[in-house]
Amino acid sequence: MGGDDHVIDVEGLTKSFGGHRALRGIDLTVPRGHVLGLLGPNGAGKTTTVRVLTTLLRPDGGRVRVAGHDVLSDPGAVRRSIGLSGQYAAVDEKLTGFENLRMVGRLYGMNRAQAAERARALLRRFRLSDVSDQRAGAYSGGMRRRLDLAGALVARPEVVVLDEPTTGLDPRGRMDTWEIVSTLVEDGTTVLLTTQYLEEADRLSDTIVVIDQGSVIARGSADALKEHMGGARMDFVLAEAADLEAAAGIVADHGHGRPEIDAGARTLSVGTSEGQSAMTRALAALERGGISVVEVALRRPTLDEVFLELTGQDGRPADVPAPQVGGVR
Ligand SMILES: Nc1ncnc2c1ncn2[C@@H]1O[C@H](COP(=O)(O)OP(=O)(O)OP(=O)(O)O)[C@@H](O)[C@H]1O
Ligand SMILES: [Mg+2]
Repeated sequence: MGGDDHVIDVEGLTKSFGGHRALRGIDLTVPRGHVLGLLGPNGAGKTTTVRVLTTLLRPDGGRVRVAGHDVLSDPGAVRRSIGLSGQYAAVDEKLTGFENLRMVGRLYGMNRAQAAERARALLRRFRLSDVSDQRAGAYSGGMRRRLDLAGALVARPEVVVLDEPTTGLDPRGRMDTWEIVSTLVEDGTTVLLTTQYLEEADRLSDTIVVIDQGSVIARGSADALKEHMGGARMDFVLAEAADLEAAAGIVADHGHGRPEIDAGARTLSVGTSEGQSAMTRALAALERGGISVVEVALRRPTLDEVFLELTGQDGRPADVPAPQVGGVR
C-alpha cells in the first residue's frame, strides 16, 4: 500500500469551476495520526479540497490518495476510510440523537445491537446522553454540532475530515470541539481540518498549510511559520498621533511591507528580518525626522500578523516570496 506512511497524499490537485481555477495545484501529505490544519480565508479552496478528498467532487488533475486508495479509481474504499463532518450536517431533525447515530451505524452495516451500543458510547463521549432521546431538531447549535461530529466517528474511520468544525460556535462549543479533536488524535486517527482561525490551527495542528486563491502559500508548524515571517515585528508608540503617517513613511524604509497603523494606540508596527539593527536604524531615522517615540518593542509576530502577511490581505509586500517552511510536506 503506497500511502501507508502518508494517510492523506495529494499531489498537484487542480479543479476549475467554469473558467474559475479554484485549486491551482495543491500538494498535501499527512502522516498517520497527525493533524493537518488547512488554513485560508473565504474562497481559498478549503471546501473544494475537502470535497475532492471525500470523493464528493472529481479532481481535474493531480493525484489524490486517502488511506492508500485513489479517489478516482477506488472511491468506495476512500469513503469507507473517512468520517466527514462540518458544512454538510447530515443530522436528521426528526430523529432523536440516539436514533441518528444508530441509523448511521446501520448504514455502515452494523447490526441493531452493535449500532445501538456504538450510538450510546458516542453520545456519552460527546456529553449528549441526557438528551439522547430528544429530537435533534430541539438541540442547541452546539449540541447539534457535537451530534454531527459523533456521526462522523460511528464507523471508527482511519481519517476524519472536519470542514470548519468551529465556525459559528460560541467559545464553549469551540473548546468542546478542540477537546474532541484531541481525543481523536489519542486514538491514532488522522485528521484534516479546515479553519479560518489561526488560533485553532495553532492549537490543534501538527502542521499548518496556508492556502489562498487555490494555491499553497506557506506550510510548516505554527512556530516555523512565525519564525519565517521575517522573524520579528517592530512596534513604535508615538507621543503624537498626528505623526503616525509621517512615521509610517520613515519606518517603511527599514522594515518590509506597509507599516500597520493603530491610531487609537498611536502605534506603528512593521515586519523586519534584521531585528535589532533595523530597529536601531528606524529609531535614528525617526529622531532625525523629529518624531517623538515613547515606547518601542521588537517581538515575534502573532499568527494573525503572519496570516495577513501571507495572504496579502493587508497589502502583501512584493519583496516577500511565498515561503516554503520546512517540515512535513
Ligand atoms: N460548485 C461551485 N461552482 C462554482 N464555483 C465554486 C463552486 N464551489 C466553489 N467555488 C468557488 O471556488 C472557490 C473556492 O471555494 P471553496 O468553497 O473551496 O472555498 P473555502 O476556502 O471553503 O471558503 P469558505 O471559507 O468561505 O468556506 C471560490 O471562489 C468559490 O466561489
Ligand atoms: Mg468552505
